[in-house]
Amino acid sequence: MAKHRGKDEEEKQHQTSWKDFIYDRRSGEFMGRTASGWALIILFYLVFYGFLAGMFTLTMWVMLQTLDDYTPRYQDRVANPGLVIRPKTMDILFNRSEPLNYGPYVEQLESFLHQYDDMEQKNEQCVAGQFFEQDTHPQKKACQFSRSVLGPCSGLLDPNFGYPQGEPCVLVKMNRVIGLKPRGDPHINCTAKNEGSLQMQYYPIEGKFDRMYFPYYGKKAQETYVQPLVAVKLLLTKENYNTELTVECKIEGTNLRNDDDRDKFQGRVTFKLTVTE
Ligand SMILES: *[C@@H]1O[C@H](CO)[C@@H](O)[C@H](O)[C@H]1NC(C)=O
Ligand SMILES: *[C@@H]1O[C@H](CO)[C@@H](O)[C@H](O)[C@H]1NC(C)=O
Repeated sequence: MAKHRGKDEEEKQHQTSWKDFIYDRRSGEFMGRTASGWALIILFYLVFYGFLAGMFTLTMWVMLQTLDDYTPRYQDRVANPGLVIRPKTMDILFNRSEPLNYGPYVEQLESFLHQYDDMEQKNEQCVAGQFFEQDTHPQKKACQFSRSVLGPCSGLLDPNFGYPQGEPCVLVKMNRVIGLKPRGDPHINCTAKNEGSLQMQYYPIEGKFDRMYFPYYGKKAQETYVQPLVAVKLLLTKENYNTELTVECKIEGTNLRNDDDRDKFQGRVTFKLTVTE
């Protein structure tokens, strides 16, 4: 019995000490602090965090003041551009007798090339073969790239881009790099890895990227810029059908890198092509 009573009392005491901790009637303390103590501590944190937020805002503002909308602030060296293709896939596969089968590729090329329409572009007719440098003007002009230079791959004469003939066009595009001025005569050279005999045609002639599309000044400074393109027409023959061809396109004739082991898209692009009939 005595033991029991002791336990009850202990429990009671325990409860009262908890209650006392939450609110102690005698000393007027709430959670171990008086009202003025709490007020001070809240005030301290308010001031402290307010100060931190102020510091952050101030440094951010100072930083932003030093940025220029037109040119990147830090660019220690000009990056090496990557290559990409349209249609946007690494595996082109179609039955040339089935319009529904190659239709999506044709539609993609057509809608991609829309921005190069003569009606769409109000860009300058530039002098071929030389860089279009405009360092003194804040708003830069851009050179026209007309669809028609892509010849049979322009979609203007052949709306199906050669897909039903088994001679599909693939467009190669070089990613934009601000300030890039490639040396030499950059051009695209594609090779079929396992099929040495595969014939290809390049548009514009020799697969060249003309110098007039360089340097690029950035999205804000040069709003109307359009990237130059090279079209590759892969002239498959009957013996190339039903096999998977691996085609690698590289940028050549310039100082741009195309053989980085770690980056398969730097200056080059590889895709697979299978045509059936
Ligand atoms: C393209 O590359 C192949 C193999 O690397 C080479 O034999 C050929 O001369 C190159 N063509 C051009 C136009 O550079
Ligand atoms: C390609 O399409 C044609 C016409 O529809 C069909 O006869 C042929 O079997 C197809 N080929 C393959 C490999 O599916």
